[in-house]
Amino acid sequence: MSRKKIVAGNWKMNTSFPVAVELIKAVTNSETASEVTKIFFPPFPFLKTASDVTSNSAEFFTGAQNCSEHDKGAYTGEVSASMIASVGCKYVLVGHSERRTFFKETNGQIVSKIQQVLQNKLIPVFCFGEQLAERKSNKHFETVTAQLTEVLKCFTAAQVTHFVLAYEPVWAIGTGETASPEQAQEMHAHVRGCLSEVFDSSLASQIPLLYGGSCNAQNAKDLFACKDVDGGLIGGASLKAEDFCKIINSF
Ligand code: PGA
Repeated sequence: MSRKKIVAGNWKMNTSFPVAVELIKAVTNSETASEVTKIFFPPFPFLKTASDVTSNSAEFFTGAQNCSEHDKGAYTGEVSASMIASVGCKYVLVGHSERRTFFKETNGQIVSKIQQVLQNKLIPVFCFGEQLAERKSNKHFETVTAQLTEVLKCFTAAQVTHFVLAYEPVWAIGTGETASPEQAQEMHAHVRGCLSEVFDSSLASQIPLLYGGSCNAQNAKDLFACKDVDGGLIGGASLKAEDFCKIINSF
């Protein structure tokens, strides 16, 4: 069965307002494969501007890099999923390894955030992946299984059909060291196996599953050619319009 192809740019804490405007313009005005869903994840202050550009498009979308686990109230500095929805965003990244590592996000918080995302009719892009030490000690499958099942078991199959998943081995994020296509495919097949076990094989075959971690204009083609890789979550290379467009056109 054919799944949605997605290339998403996670800008992290980069760019400025003028640079963000230029980047979005450059990508949306370029020739990119129309069958690929393209998502910008800019920093919060630029979301409204990005979503104004993407809101009338069937190909381009805007998402937030994070949201609060609470719905509203006295949480200084936090941004709720309903605020994100109210400026026209469609997606939210949840569980990125930088959130887990630097902000000590737990699986419990990730579940609460996804609940907020779903309540506001947004789509969660749920990220997970093993650390280098876990891969070196051959615990990568175990780690990913635990990260996935502890979160997914809190949701119904009907809810999970709206998810996008992103496998991002932590050792590959921002390091220039990409997972080989074989390593990516092997883990993606494992993730579909986990989805089959928690839910069923039909759901497992429907969910878009992205690869992230030093994916770039050179290696995207081989990664996207893997049977269970439905696209990429791109960090560094999404900040250069030309590279990001090349990645989009790598299927
Ligand atoms: P990278 O980041 O492409 O710069 O490795 C990917 C991510 O963190 O989503």
